[in-house]
This record gives sequence, structure tokens and C-alpha cells, in this order.
Amino acid sequence: MGLHLICTNFTHPGDIIFVEEPTYFFGLRIFADHDLRLIPINTYENGLLIESLEEKLTEFRPKFLYVIPTYQNPTGQTLSPERRKQLLNLSRQHDFIVVADEVYHFLSYSGQPPKPFAAETEAGNIISLGSFSKILAPGLRLGWIQANAELINRFVNSGLLDSGGGMNPFTSAIVCSVLETEGLDQNINKLITVYRARIAGMDAALRMHLPGVEYTLPKGGYFFWIHLPDGINASELQHRAEAFKVGFRPGALFSCQGGMQDYIRLSYVFYEPDELEQGVLRLKQSLDKME
Ligand SMILES: Cc1ncc(COP(=O)(O)O)c(C=O)c1O
Repeated sequence: MGLHLICTNFTHPGDIIFVEEPTYFFGLRIFADHDLRLIPINTYENGLLIESLEEKLTEFRPKFLYVIPTYQNPTGQTLSPERRKQLLNLSRQHDFIVVADEVYHFLSYSGQPPKPFAAETEAGNIISLGSFSKILAPGLRLGWIQANAELINRFVNSGLLDSGGGMNPFTSAIVCSVLETEGLDQNINKLITVYRARIAGMDAALRMHLPGVEYTLPKGGYFFWIHLPDGINASELQHRAEAFKVGFRPGALFSCQGGMQDYIRLSYVFYEPDELEQGVLRLKQSLDKME
């Protein structure tokens, strides 16, 4: 909903926006709903590559850059402090909005996550998005937008929000009391404990059963981003895996240019470690059938 509101208030059909390659696939769907023209910016290890952004800025004037800076979906990467600073400088120099989707920020399993982009909102053209989906319950359909007063007023004064007295006032009031009674903190702490065990279980299973695949152990969020062995196409593997009753998202889903075909995204948050091992074993059986 936050992305939809941003597109509604800050873009027109045909406008250019920048997205990470790869990025959140429903983000791509929402941008398509608004007929935006997407330009991919490469990512590597510590997130968005500033050189790739600078190069694209010589050619295009984006309305905004959509970035998932912390525990990215799908790669699990986190944008380094140095690149964050460079990104903010470029947004000022070239006058584009940074839309930072930070839904995984609170799900940090080793150490502190970087400061949210929201902390910089007074500094400029930054819109930070958060959601209760990953830290409380997705069915609430509630999140938040943080930005400086000028940008926030664009949302507040839009017909949709003005007419409804906000986005979701009844659910908001319930969630507000959860926050006030510290129920959210307790829930996040519980999730972190549970997910830490699951991430370790998934990592152990991958190392034991699929030693040939490459990935970086995520420090937070929901996902393992796996580089498949040479010559394996993720969509074909997905088809093969159906017979073994194991599912994953193929990499091409996260690309706005049909790339990433040799990657898959695995999520570990829903299952217990022994079930995750079973899933990895099934994935191995599917891979063995490809060779
Ligand atoms: C980067 C990112 N943004 C947004 C969402 C969805 O959030 P919500 O449930 O609040 O729409 C997800 C969930 O997968 C996500 O990965």
C-alpha cells in the first residue's frame, strides 16, 4: 500500500524509476500497475552498486529509486554505511527521492542493524517504509511511512487518506495498544530467537546436502539467495522440484529484465529446522535429476 501511495502521489505513467537488480517481485508488480519504466541498478555483496547508479544517472532522471537497504528481499544483503552516504549525496545532487523499504529492519540476528533511512528523513528526499507484516501479523495490512513534513503532507492531503481518516484507523488503534503495552518488543524478541535457530538449521542443511551451491549467510530478514551450479536454470529446477513437493522462488521473478535465471530464493522462516532439512534434501533430489 505504501508503494502504491508513493506511485500515486509522485509519479505519472511512463515515468522512470530505478530499482535494484534483483528486487522485491511484488514491488515490480505494483510499479507495473502504474505503468512506470524501470531501470535496473546492479547490486553486489553490500547492496546497491554506487558506480552502477552513477552511470545510470548520466542517462536518466528517475522520479525515485526503490531500494531495500537492510536484509534485502531476495538477496539478504545490507547496504554498507559508505554506500548509504553516497546514495544520499547523489539523491540531493540529482534531485530524486530515495524510497527505502525497510520491512526487515527489526529482524536482525547478529548484532545491530544499521540506522534506518528514516533517521535521515530531515536530511532530504527520503521516504522510509515499514510494515507490521513481518513483525506482528501480515493480515493486519498495516505499515508506516516516515518522511519529512513536506513529503508526508503529500500523503496526508491526498484524497484517499483524507476521505478515510487515515489508512486503516480501527486496526491502527489495536496495534497502537500492542505498542504501548510493549507487546511488539516481546514478539520481535521471540521471532529473533526462533528465526536464529531456523537460519542455523537451513545453513547446516545446505552445507551438508548441497555443498556445491553458493550463498552468503544472511544476518537478518527472511531469505537465502542461492547461486545454482553451472548450467542449471531456476525455472526448470522449479518445475522438476514440484514432483518432490518442495517450493522456492526462481530468480527471474525478482528481475525487471529477465535476469537472475541461475538463482533461487529460499525462505526459512515458516518451518522448523528438521522440516527445513527435509526441504533441502528434496531440493538436492530435484537437482540430481537435472544432471
Ligand atoms: C521488501 C518488501 N516490502 C514489502 C513487503 C510486503 O509488506 P506488506 O505485507 O506490508 O505489504 C515485503 C514482503 O514480502 C517485502 O519483502
